[in-house]
Amino acid sequence: MKVLVVGNGGREHALVWKLLQSDRVQYVTCVPGNGGTAAMARCRNLAMNVSDFEGMARFALVNGISLVVIGPEVPLAAGITDYLKEQGLTVFGPTRMAAQIEASKAWAKDLMLEAKIPTAQSAVFTSADPAISYVRQQGAPIVIKADGLAAGKGVTVATTVEEAEAAIADAFAGKFGQAGERVVIEECLTGQEVSILAVTDGSTIRPLVPAQDHKRIGEGDTGANTGGMGAYAPAPIVTPELMERIQKEILEPAIATLQKRNIPYCGVLYAGLMITPAGDPKVIEFNCRFGDPETQVVLPLLETPLHELLLACTQKRLADFPPLEWKSGAAACVVVAAEGYPDAYEKGKPITGIDAAETQGALVFQAGTQLRQQTLVTDGGRVLGVTALGENFESAIANAYDAVSKIQFEGMYYRRDIGHRVLAARSTAS
Ligand code: AMP
Ligand code: GLY
Repeated sequence: MKVLVVGNGGREHALVWKLLQSDRVQYVTCVPGNGGTAAMARCRNLAMNVSDFEGMARFALVNGISLVVIGPEVPLAAGITDYLKEQGLTVFGPTRMAAQIEASKAWAKDLMLEAKIPTAQSAVFTSADPAISYVRQQGAPIVIKADGLAAGKGVTVATTVEEAEAAIADAFAGKFGQAGERVVIEECLTGQEVSILAVTDGSTIRPLVPAQDHKRIGEGDTGANTGGMGAYAPAPIVTPELMERIQKEILEPAIATLQKRNIPYCGVLYAGLMITPAGDPKVIEFNCRFGDPETQVVLPLLETPLHELLLACTQKRLADFPPLEWKSGAAACVVVAAEGYPDAYEKGKPITGIDAAETQGALVFQAGTQLRQQTLVTDGGRVLGVTALGENFESAIANAYDAVSKIQFEGMYYRRDIGHRVLAARSTAS
């Protein structure tokens, strides 16, 4: 079979890599792809904007593509799945209606309320004055969220009422465009965050191994929020008992309520959870796609052929699909970014050492890279995701950093403490 993967990040490189592990997958086309997907045997990039649904449909139909896998949320929220399905294509990714679970936080909150899914208490506002009165009444800390997609920048965890008021003023002044026309104000939860990526065909839902990512730019989880500076899996905080509760209290009610509303959902439902100090899982947000960098640690642990799993979802056969098989041990990913990220950064810096890192067994998933003539250069903020497996967290993390040490480009930045929480917990336990 031939597969089309839409997107250009580390997540998409990991998807292509995993799909190509199977001989059944003849080749993959990546739209628009990056320097990593360009260099893979049996993969080619197609230079096309991910908003060009018509162009992608034409390409897929002419080339006999039997499965389209959508990476990012923006085309999903814009209805890429609806369009491609209307053209007769098989698509893994939710429709525009279903993608609202990520594209509107107010919509997601309403669904959670109906499904009785544990989540932070919240209220929705369409103008600044009542929002500000609410914040004054509730006090800080409090969380202010632009309703729509804001590339990860729409959330302010305000430690003072003044900070909350400023975030409200910004949103209603148009800082996030349309995404900020509605604002969700939410109780501030404490605890550890966990990412549960689950695949669903709209009636059955199966979690992948739990992952944790590091969202902040700085060591010790400090500084600005980013797309994610590293990840590891399987997150030890999610015991089998906790996973069972997540399945029963969160994943299944979400799918049942979507079904009740007659909203088909085929794709990944990603639950961003807070595990509270009491050990209860609460939803911080839902995403309608694979997480990045979480995918870069989850897929290398998966033994089950990915195309079979995704096809089972598109054909509504997930209930009959055999149990997912996983490698033992752990995976860790260190994101290597360009100096300045998540603010302004430069592009076009030549990258060396990826071969040396891979020779040692690491998987170097590329994100912001481009193959220019035969030279690989930086082309984004998050440049690489260096992933390694190990028989335990200590070795996976050590292997990932060993691989990172082989790689060089001008201004490269990475956190040196990926996985610090698991390492600390394991050293206390032993
Ligand atoms: P989101 O874009 O919804 O993932 O939010 C970005 C980040 O803000 C999350 O990963 C959390 O670290 C933080 N956050 C969001 N909502 C809450 C909440 N209710 N309580 C505490 N932190 C939150
Ligand atoms: N790693 C967070 C996300 O994919 O949204």
